[in-house]
Amino acid sequence: MKTTRTLFRTTLVAAAAAVLSTAAFAQAGAKLKVGLMLPYTGTFAALGNAIENGFKLYVTEQGGKIAGREVEFVKVDDESDPSKATDNVNKLVKRDNVDVLIGTVHSGVAMAMAKVAKESGTLLIVPNAGADAVTGPMCAPNIFRSSFSNWQPGYAMGEVMAKKGIKKVATITWKYAAGDESVKGFKEAFEKGGGTVVKELNLPFPNVEFQALLTDIAATKPDAVFTFFAGGGAVKFVKDYAAAGLKKTIPLYGSGFLTDGTLDAQGADAEGLFTALHYADSMEIAKDKTFRLAYAKTYKLQPDVYAVQGYDAAQILGIGLKAVNGDTSKKAEFAKAVEAAKIDSPRGTFSLSKAHNPVQDIYLRQVVGKENKLVGVASKALADPARGCKM
Ligand code: PHB
Repeated sequence: MKTTRTLFRTTLVAAAAAVLSTAAFAQAGAKLKVGLMLPYTGTFAALGNAIENGFKLYVTEQGGKIAGREVEFVKVDDESDPSKATDNVNKLVKRDNVDVLIGTVHSGVAMAMAKVAKESGTLLIVPNAGADAVTGPMCAPNIFRSSFSNWQPGYAMGEVMAKKGIKKVATITWKYAAGDESVKGFKEAFEKGGGTVVKELNLPFPNVEFQALLTDIAATKPDAVFTFFAGGGAVKFVKDYAAAGLKKTIPLYGSGFLTDGTLDAQGADAEGLFTALHYADSMEIAKDKTFRLAYAKTYKLQPDVYAVQGYDAAQILGIGLKAVNGDTSKKAEFAKAVEAAKIDSPRGTFSLSKAHNPVQDIYLRQVVGKENKLVGVASKALADPARGCKM
């Protein structure tokens, strides 16, 4: 029979073993739970898939592990629906206990994710959504973005169009954070350069009934149009713009999402369009060449900007996790490593600003056949102003 003393000792030993195994878990044993919250249905479905592909390509290159920890994915289709976003992200954080959140595409959904990440302290890496607030007023030590802010491509295109001597522009976009902020960034640079925005048109996300707005553009007769649309909506907009006969009379410009991952579907209607983005086809960047080959081989698809952002989200996670030996609880050390890093991206090397948004070249591209051909650098090492970020 065991005495009280030996019982006590046995309990102590068991407790010590439990503590040890928790520590060992974090270091080596336990899988890294990655919550992928992305759109797998709706107008942004293709974007969500490309992000997942890019992310997984990096993990595969690392032998299925990040910083020595095997990766396990938990997936949620966020449907690009902000009204479901808080519930969706809470499922990943509270029910599934993920170590890190990766998401999403839609700015409204991303803001809900950022709020939960900030409150719970869960690591969040945003692989697309440009919501200025995520690296502005909502910025936090545990929140990172591998993509862009909505302000960035808009601002770069505003500079380009003003320099071209274009004077009067109409804008058209979806009425939500990404559309509003792309136009705002555009307007800031365009008006600084001497241009005027004569009309701002919009429609609710994700509507694609463009006809009345196109009639308005035809009647307004601006020198050019600036737009933000993406995914399925961008395909339809470019086709409708051409079908309305506007392509020949009023040049169309946009944030590069207008023609990224969409060219097969847009066909000749996209030919010749100029856009601004942090990625382009046919770049002379060694990392891009190996990335494109590997992506095409793995998925039998050409990568686009979304695939690059997914890949870079995984790279950021890898850099941070290596610095903490896989221990996601060491948030400050994780952030320090990522903040100091030069990220070897297919888009070209970039670093993160203090607010954790990429400081990056924004390229001017033109559609030639099935490519967004690099024309030049529209804005070198462009940093989002991070208005409202206190960190
Ligand atoms: C956004 O909602 O922030 C968004 C969506 C799709 C894009 C770019 C930005 O291609």
